[in-house]
Amino acid sequence: MNPDGLLVVGDLSDGDLRLTKRIAALPLPLAVILGNHDRGHDKSGGILRQQLALLGEHHCAWSLHGWARPPISVVGARPCSSGGGFHLSKAVEAIYGPVSREQSIDRIVQAAAQVPDDQPLVVLAHCGPTGLGSEPDSPCGRDWKAPFVDWGDQDLAIALDRMAQRRCADLVVFGHMHHQLKRGRGLRRSLLLDRRGTAFLNAACVPRKGVDASGRELIHFSWAEFKDVHLSRLSHRWYTPNGELTHEESLPLPDLVSC
Ligand SMILES: [Fe+2]
Repeated sequence: MNPDGLLVVGDLSDGDLRLTKRIAALPLPLAVILGNHDRGHDKSGGILRQQLALLGEHHCAWSLHGWARPPISVVGARPCSSGGGFHLSKAVEAIYGPVSREQSIDRIVQAAAQVPDDQPLVVLAHCGPTGLGSEPDSPCGRDWKAPFVDWGDQDLAIALDRMAQRRCADLVVFGHMHHQLKRGRGLRRSLLLDRRGTAFLNAACVPRKGVDASGRELIHFSWAEFKDVHLSRLSHRWYTPNGELTHEESLPLPDLVSC
């Protein structure tokens, strides 16, 4: 499969540091946003601080990460979101301070304002934005209890709106909201293109490993390709442990997606 870079949407574990260490050591361009589970049960922020120390510059909360090769700009949103509008956990507050919704918006917009015009603008978040639907199978719809509501992040949605005055995001990548819905309701919509041409990818295929009908082990990855600044391919892919691509579900894209 040999990707040029890797985005990680968080919830690596419930506070276990082993996978974080392995991800941080990967020899390719890397951007990570931690999830609400990554602090474990530690409200003091101690475990989260250890996670951040391991990831170092790879963790992209509220900041811009520009890769030279491939030339892609990754803007990080609020770390460790649990969705549902705007909420800062005690652990996040212990490290970042009492960041308000408006401050979170400003940080995301300011990071995006530094993105060069000739590079794709990718936003990496743990939970996606509000505005993608209120049904249980919407990309950020609450499916585990009624009423079924939009469980996205308000600060991210407002930031994306404000960014659009200058330039829209080409791609917004997030996790948190599992593809498999509760109580047998099927699968969530996980690939979406909005009216501005921004593509949204919910990458939370949980578990990421499984077997097909013939018992063959498969591993899920999401895949994005850019041609110059334009998103040219966005899909979910399932690979064998040997790296053989066995199945792909793609989002149909216009010839050139641009804001
Ligand atoms: Fe999560």
